[in-house]
Amino acid sequence: MDIFITGATGWIGSSVADHLLAAGHTVTGLARSDASADALERKGIRVLRGGLDDLDILRAGADKAEAVVHLANKHDFTNPAVMNKAERDTVQTIGDTLAGSPRPFALASGLFCVAPGRIATELDRSPFHGVDSSRGGSENLALELAQQGVRTIVTRFAPSVHGAGDYGFVAGLVGIARAKGVSAYIDDGANRWAAVHRLDAGRLVQLAVDERTPAGAILHAAAETGIGTREIAEAIGRGLRLPVVSIPAAAAGEHFGWLSRFFGTDMAASSAATSALLGWKPEHPTLFEDLDSGYYYL
Ligand SMILES: NC(=O)c1ccc[n+]([C@@H]2O[C@H](COP(=O)([O-])OP(=O)(O)OC[C@H]3O[C@@H](n4cnc5c(N)ncnc54)[C@H](OP(=O)(O)O)[C@@H]3O)[C@@H](O)[C@H]2O)c1
Repeated sequence: MDIFITGATGWIGSSVADHLLAAGHTVTGLARSDASADALERKGIRVLRGGLDDLDILRAGADKAEAVVHLANKHDFTNPAVMNKAERDTVQTIGDTLAGSPRPFALASGLFCVAPGRIATELDRSPFHGVDSSRGGSENLALELAQQGVRTIVTRFAPSVHGAGDYGFVAGLVGIARAKGVSAYIDDGANRWAAVHRLDAGRLVQLAVDERTPAGAILHAAAETGIGTREIAEAIGRGLRLPVVSIPAAAAGEHFGWLSRFFGTDMAASSAATSALLGWKPEHPTLFEDLDSGYYYL
């Protein structure tokens, strides 16, 4: 297939693009800079120049493609309104372009607030609706688009998509611990995070596009159901040889900045339905294997 991908230079997107290429697809990637365009071309990915605000470019990319994978995100957690609007506009634009065709449209989502206090399943619905909500309510928008004849496939990534070279949430926690001189968890650290290795996440999205994934499917990229945030802090403390401490929730914002919203939220998830649907079998290292292997602390 000819597949149009946004975010192909990103942490997850680069793995997805590698898996799509390895599966024999032709891949075209959105690139907003020369550096990103060069990185894509070096891998044999065709380049479509533009950014997430260039809706005509997104339309053109989707129009020519046999499948679309949307993984780009502005990720400005200090300016959520801009980030959320871009996400919603992108999903709406690509969805409108693909409407009425069987072409798959895979997009990213997360587990934030899906089922705090219990293990989220693929049947749980996101509480976020509308442009002013988290991710611009794009997950529920995708389900609405599925009702309108778009083959949307939502992948909820675990909050810790980990692996060598990580610069996401787990790497952020390591950076905060190093800067503060302590590795902290919030309150009793009972909140859990699901986890997935970046390469297993990339394989899942490739399978989602290649297999007969139905419109409106919700997939969980969660190889490990839920790891206590206290245990995560302890592993980071071991790695950095720093004391491990509890921070009261009231002080979490000051300590963790914008990451406190996520580290202070229970995000455990099962991927049983995802594995049953697609035969996805995670095979790469666990979060603790990665955290204990050293490269998070170089
Ligand atoms: N990583 C996680 O743990 C995690 C967990 C849950 C959900 N997610 C979601 O999964 C998706 C992929 O995450 P990620 O960790 O791979 O993100 P990432 O590493 O931050 O990559 C973001 C990608 O978006 C592109 N991008 C950013 N702003 C853009 C703009 N204005 N126009 C065009 N492209 C733009 C970047 O391209 P450049 O090369 O131009 O910078 C990069 O390819 C995101 O939607 C994210 O929210 C991730």
